[in-house]
Amino acid sequence: MKTSLLSLLGANAALASIVIIPSTKYQEITGFGFSQAFTRASQFQAAESTLQKQALDLLFDTETGAGFSIIRNWIPSTTEHSIEPASPGSANSTPVYTWDGDDYGQVWFSTQAASYGVSTIYADAWSAPGFMKTSGNEATAGYLCGTTGHTCSTGDWKQAYADYLVQYVKFYQEEGLKITHLGFLNEPDFSPSYSQMQISDNAQEAIDFIPILYQTVQDAGLSLNLTCCDAMGWDTQSSYTDYLVKAGMEKYLDVITSHMYTGDATFELDTSLPAWISEAGDETGDGGFVTTWYSSGLVNEGMTWANKLAEGFTAADLSAYIYWEGFEINQTQSASHLVDTSGDEPLLSGIYYAFTMWSRFIRPGAYRIATSGTLTNVVTAAFQNTDDSVVVVLTNSGSSSQTAELSVSDTVDLSSVQAWVTDNDSQVVKTTVSIGTSSVSVTVPARGVVTVKFTAGGDDNEYNNNHYHYGNGRGCNSLGPVRRKTMDWRNYVCLTVYLPEVQ
Ligand SMILES: *[C@@H]1O[C@H](CO)[C@@H](O)[C@H](O)[C@H]1NC(C)=O
Ligand SMILES: *[C@@H]1O[C@H](CO)[C@@H](O)[C@H](O)[C@H]1NC(C)=O
Ligand SMILES: *[C@@H]1O[C@H](CO)[C@@H](O)[C@H](O)[C@H]1NC(C)=O
Repeated sequence: MKTSLLSLLGANAALASIVIIPSTKYQEITGFGFSQAFTRASQFQAAESTLQKQALDLLFDTETGAGFSIIRNWIPSTTEHSIEPASPGSANSTPVYTWDGDDYGQVWFSTQAASYGVSTIYADAWSAPGFMKTSGNEATAGYLCGTTGHTCSTGDWKQAYADYLVQYVKFYQEEGLKITHLGFLNEPDFSPSYSQMQISDNAQEAIDFIPILYQTVQDAGLSLNLTCCDAMGWDTQSSYTDYLVKAGMEKYLDVITSHMYTGDATFELDTSLPAWISEAGDETGDGGFVTTWYSSGLVNEGMTWANKLAEGFTAADLSAYIYWEGFEINQTQSASHLVDTSGDEPLLSGIYYAFTMWSRFIRPGAYRIATSGTLTNVVTAAFQNTDDSVVVVLTNSGSSSQTAELSVSDTVDLSSVQAWVTDNDSQVVKTTVSIGTSSVSVTVPARGVVTVKFTAGGDDNEYNNNHYHYGNGRGCNSLGPVRRKTMDWRNYVCLTVYLPEVQ
């Protein structure tokens, strides 16, 4: 089709409360996820088949479920499940690896996730095998032998630990599963009575190990994103990050990972690396698994997590948010998973819906984009997906509803707009959007979230080599049979084009 572009129509004059500005991009989004670590993957695998399928759909389906796009697996260090259950004697001896093809149900779980299109698999070690640590035990506080200040009679195990982690990735490769992210620590600032390994406040042990792990991955011909350090909370991880950056670790690392138990992600870290909340949950004893959206703001309520997500992606520039676990059966004493059961049916927590308002709509590879304008008590977060659709999540933490008037600079196909609401009364249900000439308006209920999506293109649009879509009557198409306005979806501007006589 031969066209000539005559004019570029500028921004509309009408004032809107909030303008979405796709040309100003912030962080890239990797996605949202959860784990089935510590026996939960094998329980999922053993669940009755109807329930299992329902839970998988609820977690991974991008149309009807939460559309989670990241899974986080545990690299087991226990003698029963480790790939290197016994010490070869000394650090320089040849290791004996074993692989059961199951990995505590995580091979099955990863395969299921992949079948729904999940392509980000984060494998994280809570500890090195016990014989590589100063404590001699994977479940007691100790450091990796051979790191600064930590000598062991059996030698320096840094290289052996790197080899072990790389071998774990290779075993998954043999199963047809690509681990994309690898971590070697979990909560190194905490001493529980299960798998754990410490680092000092200045992250020195991590700084000693990271270049060795990096080189070992390179030498194995693997491509992997390396992470550090899955600290208990954002403040500690921020401090670790400062030491890592000062020591030149950014060139080896790909993602900074943090949990939120001792501090939420409320500010940007001082690094050029992307940052994730790689584990999150309710460990406060504030109550068990509930379906409550909002009651009094406890950590087991959905609205609490709606606020954490909104602040994390806007104030801390997060690229990913990973809840602790996805599916557990009859474990309602805990709120640290998203889907439980009621009889033989799945039961969804309020927190599940808080995630779904983000994870179903903001897809991997999206960028957060700029907005201007504010609404009382509402956090506005806007994103553009790789298919050019624009998603706006409005999180109203206040006690009265707010009406948002949204426009996308310069113009957008407003008639493509759809919106979903979650509050006390509705869970991810379609809500009304009024379409004006230059903006749309939508009401965000008190203590509620509305997700607005402007779809780019569609079945009735062609996409040609010049990157212009030819609409068939949508917002940008009203100048008659020969001269018509059409959208440039790359730049969100309305173009006037001349079409051939024959249409
Ligand atoms: C590293 O992570 C990015 C973002 O998720 C992904 O696009 C890339 O494929 C990953 N790299 C490897 C080598 O897996
Ligand atoms: C939501 O419901 C709870 C009771 O479950 C109530 O206390 C709260 O005021 C309600 N909030 C709104 C905004 O309606
Ligand atoms: C959960 O426990 C109840 C009571 O013991 C039982 O009836 C139900 O079948 C269990 N649910 C599942 C999915 O196993």
